[in-house]
Amino acid sequence: MALIEINDLQVSFHQQGVIKTAVESVSFHIDEGETFSLIGASGCGKSTVLRVLAGLQREWRGEITLLGQKIKPQQRFTGQLRRDVQMVFQDPYSSLHPQHLIRRTLGEPLKIHGEKNISARIEEALEQVGLPTDAANRYPHQLSGGQRQRIAIARALLLRPKILLLDEPTSALDMSVQAEILNLLNRLKREHGMTYLLVSHDSDVIAHMSERAALMENGHIVRQFSRDDLRQAEHLLPGSL
Ligand SMILES: Nc1ncnc2c1ncn2[C@@H]1O[C@H](COP(=O)(O)OP(=O)(O)OP(=O)(O)O)[C@@H](O)[C@H]1O
Ligand SMILES: [Mg+2]
Repeated sequence: MALIEINDLQVSFHQQGVIKTAVESVSFHIDEGETFSLIGASGCGKSTVLRVLAGLQREWRGEITLLGQKIKPQQRFTGQLRRDVQMVFQDPYSSLHPQHLIRRTLGEPLKIHGEKNISARIEEALEQVGLPTDAANRYPHQLSGGQRQRIAIARALLLRPKILLLDEPTSALDMSVQAEILNLLNRLKREHGMTYLLVSHDSDVIAHMSERAALMENGHIVRQFSRDDLRQAEHLLPGSL
């Protein structure tokens, strides 16, 4: 079953009287349990597609079905939909509040959704991402870049989502830490039966992580890659986009 179906998505931004179309026409589907990746040069519209699917960019045109439910432009994500779709951003430095203890950063989404046993849930989330439970008592600047990204992943997992939108989750990290985080994401996906939409510039990351991928250019999907394409032919993918 397709958990994400997008048909002819268009997104335009209005800036000082000028209309800039970031996504011209994008269509794809992602089946349950798959990792589907978007590749493409800077500015081609990848993050914009993810922001639409996370409910952060509410102005768009086209057809989108998320988890079997049709969503509409301007729709605010509430209830189960808001829990089921979570996003991890590229930069763990700016995605965590610098003046909040990790305990607060992780506790807030649980409180907002009326969850109980918050301390136990925070401990469980930290354990899942391979961090000691005393990480809850630190501020972001007291953690390494890799640890911060683990916190961002823990936060995304707290509400037990079905879909994770991963926007270059490792590109701010050095190579060895990158591999650890990618392996962690693959393990969590298996354990929790999640579905991933991943954006990356790195063809090795795409090949390691994805069942299928699509190459975007100027707001369009210009090419799709099957698992076999990805396995046999890393040379099909531009090395560093
Ligand atoms: N809020 C916004 N207002 C105006 N223009 C925007 C906005 N968000 C994105 N854009 C523009 O839309 C285009 C696509 O941006 P997007 O962030 O989706 O690209 P991207 O493929 O994620 O690039 P990168 O690889 O650099 O992250 C760019 O030209 C960008 O400047
Ligand atoms: Mg981007």
